[in-house]
Amino acid sequence: MLKTRLSTNHLLGIKELTKDDIQLIFHWTKQFKEVISRPIKKVPSLRDITIANLFFENSTRTRLSFELAEKRLSADVINFSASNSSLKKGESLVDTINNILAMKVDVIVLRHPEPGSAKFLSQEINSQIINAGDGTHEHPTQALLDSFSIEERLGDLKNKKVVIIGDIMHSRVAISNILCIQKLGGCVAVCGPKTLIPRKIESLGVTIINDVVEALEWADAANILRVQHERMERSYFPSIREYQMQFGITMKRLNKVKNIPVIMHPGPINRGVEISSEVADSEHSIILDQVENGVALRMSVLYLLTSHAENMD
Ligand code: CP
Repeated sequence: MLKTRLSTNHLLGIKELTKDDIQLIFHWTKQFKEVISRPIKKVPSLRDITIANLFFENSTRTRLSFELAEKRLSADVINFSASNSSLKKGESLVDTINNILAMKVDVIVLRHPEPGSAKFLSQEINSQIINAGDGTHEHPTQALLDSFSIEERLGDLKNKKVVIIGDIMHSRVAISNILCIQKLGGCVAVCGPKTLIPRKIESLGVTIINDVVEALEWADAANILRVQHERMERSYFPSIREYQMQFGITMKRLNKVKNIPVIMHPGPINRGVEISSEVADSEHSIILDQVENGVALRMSVLYLLTSHAENMD
């Protein structure tokens, strides 16, 4: 039987979620997908709840998707971006957030470049926290929408094979995806330049496949990641051209495999580098389905977390 509540008051990472939590989130994602397909897309579920979206790092999909999800649920929404705030005048993160909370905010959606920032805040302030990506640590709602999108296309993730291709080392999406897919009974492999695969990745039960065509042959779904130059202090491969030659996902490569896997990408895409336009826009790609599902999935997370807000520590 499906439970009715999440086992956690915050969404800090996939690590803190149980399989039942994930299935409950998916159950409500399906309900909200139906809601937002109606002519009137708004429901009053979060009326009287105030949510602050605090983004200390650039974002397009996650920021807009959370804002839309909150508005579809009738929450009051405020948006904060670090670049035009008083942080520039020397105010600390905790002081900034406590000032925002003094305005009677119930939930904080936080994107921050520092790994562990969401957990730190959850211990420092009296508000519910949703991690919208913390450095190289976790990006739980991205992983949840990725797994939801795979299940929507391929059915139950149990025993399905998912390969993550690209810059695994600097990717919070990779870590959260590995944890989520495994909790749902799927198998994960990674593929990319050896310098961008963390040394201890196999201790997570992940297989390394060095050859990209072999990886595509093995997989039911392939999640392609961009190279995160902004997180690199040095060069990890000779040139973009060489990366593209060795790991870029092209139609020529896909046509070499017997069963072409479902193609995914969390965005933003660097067309012509990790994925060709032909592949990104092909019938095999569910990239825009992932974005579409992100709104309903975030509605589900917000709904489930706020529906037991009275139980907060
Ligand atoms: N996938 C993702 O997190 O994209 P944004 O950085 O645009 O939010």
